[in-house]
Amino acid sequence: MTNSVAPRADVPSKGPGIADRNTPFLRDYWYVAAFSDEITRTPIRRTILGEDILLYRTQDGLPVAMQNRCPHRSFPLHKGFLKGDRIVCNYHGIEFNPDGSCGHVPSLGTAPPAIRLDRYPLEEDGPLTWIWMGDASAPDYSRLVRMEWCTSPQWAFVKGAMYVKANYLGLHENLMDLTHFLFTHGKWNIVKPEHILDRPVLKEQDDMIVQEEVHENAEPPAERMEKLGMTGPFTMFVSQTVKIPGLHQGLTRTTDNSNPPKQDVQHIIHILTPETANTMHYLWAIAYDAVLHDDTFANTMQQVGAAVFEEDKVVLEDIEEVYRRDHRPDFREKIIRTDKGGIQLLRMFSRMAAAEQESALVP
Ligand code: FES
Ligand SMILES: [Fe+2]
Repeated sequence: MTNSVAPRADVPSKGPGIADRNTPFLRDYWYVAAFSDEITRTPIRRTILGEDILLYRTQDGLPVAMQNRCPHRSFPLHKGFLKGDRIVCNYHGIEFNPDGSCGHVPSLGTAPPAIRLDRYPLEEDGPLTWIWMGDASAPDYSRLVRMEWCTSPQWAFVKGAMYVKANYLGLHENLMDLTHFLFTHGKWNIVKPEHILDRPVLKEQDDMIVQEEVHENAEPPAERMEKLGMTGPFTMFVSQTVKIPGLHQGLTRTTDNSNPPKQDVQHIIHILTPETANTMHYLWAIAYDAVLHDDTFANTMQQVGAAVFEEDKVVLEDIEEVYRRDHRPDFREKIIRTDKGGIQLLRMFSRMAAAEQESALVP
């Protein structure tokens, strides 16, 4: 397995100790391989951290992840077919079991143990199927983040996915930064001008960053507030939590002026699965515990979520395009005070990458 990406000397770094696209991928973590409903009896491919991976389900419904590269002549196995629980390569017909071992080589009539596929541990948790990208023999389940909002009947959620032609760290920075809402997402009136002057509180503990801020006189969607019987003025608590590199958990808690105050809580889950140094899979879900069985409301929420996150995708791809085109040697991005959360997060990722490199050293 490769443990680094090719350095891009043309992309200016933000400074020492701050992760950028040249920082090796963080491997000893769980990433979301796919929404669970994407993994079926029809094999698919997904490239994660620069590794082409085959995904399918056994006849018993268990998800399988293995290298999507036949060890014989590198044919992509997702273009093969399933024979029971085995994947059959469509070039010379070698069969592989779900544990990666060879089942049959037609031209030999045997199954040599030396011909095998790397397999990846998976953990299916409701709508999310996580993949462990570190040592397959030692997945660390303490690093798995379970999202009860996506599995509990007390909650409903909407979801979406997009492919972003940009490095995943840019999206992490974007998600820590509410100041872009006024511009990138201006038409939705999510944030008022005075809110971008609010100073978030940043808490860092071990390998976790939490950023919190409170917006007074917030303007949540009027229709939803009406449905919940909530009346203004509204106060909105917003937080972002990052524990692992592939996940960014947002929370909004809106309270109204009744006594005691009514609350509307939403968990906004951003899943960042790097594909290469300049592409990523961006999956998202918004979970809520009120107005649970209203299709119209769910559809609106899904459409607004998809439209807002699409705006971020466009920004990140535009920046990536500038990185590709512009090579002025002295350019350095300026860091301003409100970038603090994003920069702290990139520092944390840099430390995590250094620790991983250290632990990989042969004693
Ligand atoms: S390339 Fe797969 S069987 Fe030959
Ligand atoms: Fe955004």
